[in-house]
Amino acid sequence: MKSLYRPLKIGNAVVKGNIFLAPLAGYTDRAFRSVCTLMGADLAYTEMVSCEALIRNSEKTEGLLAKADAEEYYAVQVFSGNAQTAGEAVKKVNKHKPLIIDLNCGCPVPKIIKSGAGSALMQNPEKVAEIIRAMKDNTDIPVTVKIRTGWDANSLNYLEVAEKAVEAGAALVCMHCRTRSQAYGGTADWSHLKKLKEALGDLPVLGSGDMFSAKAVKQVMEESGIDGVMLARGAIGNPFLFREIRHYLQTGGLLPPPSPAEKMDIAFQQLKLSVKYKDEKTAVNEMKKQMCAYTKGLPGSSEIRNKMVHSDSFQTYEAIFEEYMKMLQTRRDYIEF
Ligand SMILES: Cc1cc2nc3c(=O)[nH]c(=O)nc-3n(C[C@H](O)[C@H](O)[C@H](O)COP(=O)(O)O)c2cc1C
Repeated sequence: MKSLYRPLKIGNAVVKGNIFLAPLAGYTDRAFRSVCTLMGADLAYTEMVSCEALIRNSEKTEGLLAKADAEEYYAVQVFSGNAQTAGEAVKKVNKHKPLIIDLNCGCPVPKIIKSGAGSALMQNPEKVAEIIRAMKDNTDIPVTVKIRTGWDANSLNYLEVAEKAVEAGAALVCMHCRTRSQAYGGTADWSHLKKLKEALGDLPVLGSGDMFSAKAVKQVMEESGIDGVMLARGAIGNPFLFREIRHYLQTGGLLPPPSPAEKMDIAFQQLKLSVKYKDEKTAVNEMKKQMCAYTKGLPGSSEIRNKMVHSDSFQTYEAIFEEYMKMLQTRRDYIEF
């Protein structure tokens, strides 16, 4: 029997393992991808990048394409509702040499849908194929797609969309097992992954949706036969989930959760990287929501969150971290966490 944790071939690219960090707008910047890589993510995706903004030469958008130092390789995700725009944009992406280029067919945000991109593409399988062909005409890098199960419960057309994408040359299909109408609510219906994998045969299929624990990942992989998974919300404030999943799939054993000191240490490393990659003010502001996630459930967490929310410099953050680490050394109750 194939080991659940294994390398993955995507077109002409090979990834050393099959536990990925999903694209997360507002989160998967270079700093977060770096700590996830450190914790065992086998491949990490950029935030979704607008093809239209790329061809308009938006500096900010082009900045999203950069690889982090800690990454041996990475994946770029783009969104577009127009084949010609996508084809042109891919020429810019090529220069950054990502391992794969992924097309977003799942974003439920109204502004994106209005432009015919994201999950609007689930209503137009022909357009998905057209965009993928245009991307492939302009790159030798494998092109992949990330879809939802459908627009809503009455139009679960993922098999049709996936098949059209593969005919057009997609080298991998990842499915978030919710419809556009569900957005991120309710539960992901993993039963569709089995059907998708059966339909696509040897083509790699990844699952996304409610990948919140090592046990959940093992269950979905065993039940559906998919080739790997993407962690999304489960990794926010908890990049440790990557090593926990890998360990569980390889040994069947559950690792102990990270200590409060380790959580804070990794959170601080992420902040330092963020400051290295962005200007200090942006980094500190953008990290607030992630810091809240890291500190959730820690002893004295509401106090520390309160302090962090009101700080706007790296120096203040550093002082808060140092004070907190000292507090952990003197308090014994955290051991119970
Ligand atoms: C804040 C946020 C941002 C997201 N951004 C993207 C994105 O840029 N591209 C994409 O394909 N999916 C995006 N997603 C969807 C996730 O990649 C993932 O498919 C979804 O959250 C389901 O996984 P989960 O239930 O394990 O979180 C986003 C989700 C969230 C919560």
